[in-house]
Amino acid sequence: MEDPPDASSPENASILCPDFHWGFATAAAQVEGAWDADGKGESIWDKFSRIQGNIIDGSTNADATRAYDFYRGDVHLLKRLGVSSHRFSLAWSRIIPLGGKDDPVNEAGLGYYSNLIDELLHNGITPFVTLFHWDTPQALEDRYGGMLDQDRYTQDFERYARVCFAALGDRVKHWITYNEPGVYTLAGYAAGVHAPGRSSLPGRNDPGDSSTEPFIVAHTELVSHAHTVKIYREEFKVTQKGVIGITLHGNYSAPWDKDDPKDVVAAERALQFEIGWFADPVYGSGDYPACMREQLGDRLPHFTPEEKALVRGSSDFYGMNSYTTFFVRHREEPADINDHKGNITTHDTNKAGVSRGAESATTWLRSNPAGFLALLHWIWDRYRTPIYITENGITAKGEDTWDPTDAHWLAIPLDDTFRQDFFEGYIGAVAEAVRNGVDIRSYFAWTFTDNWEWAAGFTNRFGSHWIDFNSREKTRYSKKSATELGRIFEHLIG
Ligand code: NOJ
Repeated sequence: MEDPPDASSPENASILCPDFHWGFATAAAQVEGAWDADGKGESIWDKFSRIQGNIIDGSTNADATRAYDFYRGDVHLLKRLGVSSHRFSLAWSRIIPLGGKDDPVNEAGLGYYSNLIDELLHNGITPFVTLFHWDTPQALEDRYGGMLDQDRYTQDFERYARVCFAALGDRVKHWITYNEPGVYTLAGYAAGVHAPGRSSLPGRNDPGDSSTEPFIVAHTELVSHAHTVKIYREEFKVTQKGVIGITLHGNYSAPWDKDDPKDVVAAERALQFEIGWFADPVYGSGDYPACMREQLGDRLPHFTPEEKALVRGSSDFYGMNSYTTFFVRHREEPADINDHKGNITTHDTNKAGVSRGAESATTWLRSNPAGFLALLHWIWDRYRTPIYITENGITAKGEDTWDPTDAHWLAIPLDDTFRQDFFEGYIGAVAEAVRNGVDIRSYFAWTFTDNWEWAAGFTNRFGSHWIDFNSREKTRYSKKSATELGRIFEHLIG
């Protein structure tokens, strides 16, 4: 694969519409801190991160970047950078501390988000709001096992969504129900490395059944997403006039050997296992991909006719989170009971000669803009739905050891060349896809500041601002990529 042209090439000038949305994405549990402030209830990540051994550096998300305390400063920084939009998530347990449909609403929690939205709008920044970015209220997990109980969970999620639409929908016109439902299920219920930490993989001592639970939870996410969209469309859309959809994870899968037909088929199958699992029911056939049913049988739940009708078409846009490209080899032996990818070998991002630039600081993540371009086409060709890129970004080696006492940092932005190159390439791919007719309407970089990267704690820095996590102040030090993004989009937006 050839690298696509850089974003800044002359042919890309003014390629994007003036109403193209660009900015940064964040998630409540990764930035807010204040985990129990002003009446907030416990989330599954608050609990999970306190259990020794779950988080690589032993950290919790109790403080994170303290965005709860510093949101005004953050919004002013965003304004200075010239972003048009900002994507963030609501912490369900801040709004309804116990989560359930009959539990009280915490007005202070709702007030925080209302203020944040006002602050953004006051500064000319459009809010994109995610209802669920992995932080299920712990009380629901304790009461009935969270998403394992589709009926009870769906009723609780619907009520939570209604509260949010009613209180914030006068100002929020872009809603995302779920962020990366697939990662929530696979990491939380198959590998067990994310909250709620269920896994029956060999050598693990956790509750759960990795061979079925991820698929049950995924089904719950899809059905509760669809119910929520129905509620928005029927009860709120007419007056509020917003759009609503879901954000899916998905990396590109390329054949290990493009001349080996079996690898070619395996790569396509990998895309269907990773992306089609959620996207086909919503944007395609209305059901799970045939190759998944073939390999997983009744481990994969069946949609009732009512569910199918509800889920199909339940998204106004395709919310796309994507980071890297995997190279996929065919494997003869059938999928293991705990293998959620089918009979393919994936997760090798390291094929020589295809990566652009150096390795990132994250094992699963290598820069590959050509793969990103191919993926944009794959999604567009298969689903023909306007795409909002809701996350894309990278870590860079060496940033952990930067020293903020070096005084010139305050005046001169930190030089994160690797991240700047990444953005040039990936946003160049966006420009090329748009030129080829793909309908792309937003680009949100992951992420605004270094933050708390789930099980990796503070060890993976994805931010365009550097933070000393040992300090109480959490000063945001500018990296050059933050201003580079502004320069790139000024060039691209006509
Ligand atoms: C996607 C997730 O939505 C986000 O929470 C995470 O930090 C990034 N990927 C980077 O791993």
